[in-house]
Amino acid sequence: MSDNSLKVTDNRTGRNYQIEIEDGAVRALDFRKIKLNDDDFGLITYDPGFSNTGSCKSRITFIDGEKGILRYRGYPIDELAKGVSFLEVSYLVFHGELPDKDQLDEWTLAIRSHANPPPQIRELIQAFSPESSAMGMLMSAVAALSGIYSEAVDLNDPENRRTHLTRLIGSVPTIISFVYRHKMGLSVLEPDPEKPFVDDFLRLVFGETESRVDSVFSGALDVLFTLHADHEQNCSANAMRSVGSSLADPYMATASAIGALAGTLHGGANEAVLKMLESIGSVDRVGDYMERVKQGEIRLMGFGHRVYKNYDPRAKIIKRLADSVFQVAKPSPLLDLAQELEAIALKDDYFLKRKLYPNVDFYSGITYRAIGFPNWMFTALFALARTSGWVSQWEEFMTDPDSRIARPRQVYLGSDLRHYP
Ligand code: CMC
Repeated sequence: MSDNSLKVTDNRTGRNYQIEIEDGAVRALDFRKIKLNDDDFGLITYDPGFSNTGSCKSRITFIDGEKGILRYRGYPIDELAKGVSFLEVSYLVFHGELPDKDQLDEWTLAIRSHANPPPQIRELIQAFSPESSAMGMLMSAVAALSGIYSEAVDLNDPENRRTHLTRLIGSVPTIISFVYRHKMGLSVLEPDPEKPFVDDFLRLVFGETESRVDSVFSGALDVLFTLHADHEQNCSANAMRSVGSSLADPYMATASAIGALAGTLHGGANEAVLKMLESIGSVDRVGDYMERVKQGEIRLMGFGHRVYKNYDPRAKIIKRLADSVFQVAKPSPLLDLAQELEAIALKDDYFLKRKLYPNVDFYSGITYRAIGFPNWMFTALFALARTSGWVSQWEEFMTDPDSRIARPRQVYLGSDLRHYP
């Protein structure tokens, strides 16, 4: 028997089984051979929310949640946030290595050549009422790209895949600017692919003459995009891989990932944090709010994480970033409120016992707001950055020989056979 294995005894039958361990994991299918008798289906593993199930092998992002470590392709997130632009990070996440100058020029050109989505996308967004949700409009527009680029379904050709994946990274920012301007009752602006990626995005959203198109803001936004680029097998990456596993095209899969991101337990939390801070209103009401959280009536949005049981390393960087943005932006009482909430939580037994710390969304919304984005744009900004991670996860799935269609099992607890009377 190999040392790298489990010896499992089924106490129901007294039989012993050997289960191999590979890369720190056991294969769930190996448990199928554990049966009561020949008619028994065999054991399955039950893991709602995939708390302890590896759905794939990946080489993109590493997280050690206990220690608060996040790395893309081996590089610590704080080093990338300090010295590398978002476009370089997106290259790294997708290809596995940082680009040299020629590679970066080629990547930038590939992405920026898709900055202008086809005219149907503008018309589609115009067809929504301005009150419609930004994420709903974004999701629909990305799904519509699937109808327009039907050749995207040819998944065997790596060049074809790259064309559509770079189109997603390149066109999502412009689509988001269309959504913003439509909701604000403004006419859309033309992208300028000659301009740097983030500067052009700020210009597309706010207009050429706006003071918000500022180098501090554009630098801060670049870092925020880097921090959001990928986060291994979270809910939306799982949606991307899962929908992609049926061999749906990457636009369909990305639209699904956008839907998954929209919820308040995932990317929608950044907007929910701001709503929460606004509803608390002032520092003297923080104590009451915290009592309700501890009674289980409400959640402290922007706190807690499935994987991090320590301070989210991205939240640390964003907290420092917020300080630099507020040196230029109008001061916000919401920042004081957030700091007060954090200070109380970090001393309180309820949060300490459950290892609940600020996550990426706790300070990101305040920073986006300081730059001038309304609350309803925050999750779309998250989607803009995460598109680079989604397409990288999708490409990794497509080129992994272990990949199979996602098809979980269930533990059936419903009625036994019965007949219609
Ligand atoms: N406020 C108060 N209590 C909390 C919170 C919170 N934010 N998060 C978890 N808990 C408690 C929870 O009630 C439970 O307590 P008990 O053991 O007494 O029942 C315990 O902590 C474990 O919680 P859980 O729901 O089993 O944890 P989970 O891993 O399923 O959920 C989470 C993770 C992120 C959904 C959750 O922490 C949460 O709802 N946080 C608030 C929403 C949020 O900020 N989401 C953004 C996540 S990070 C960015 C992203 O993924 O996009």
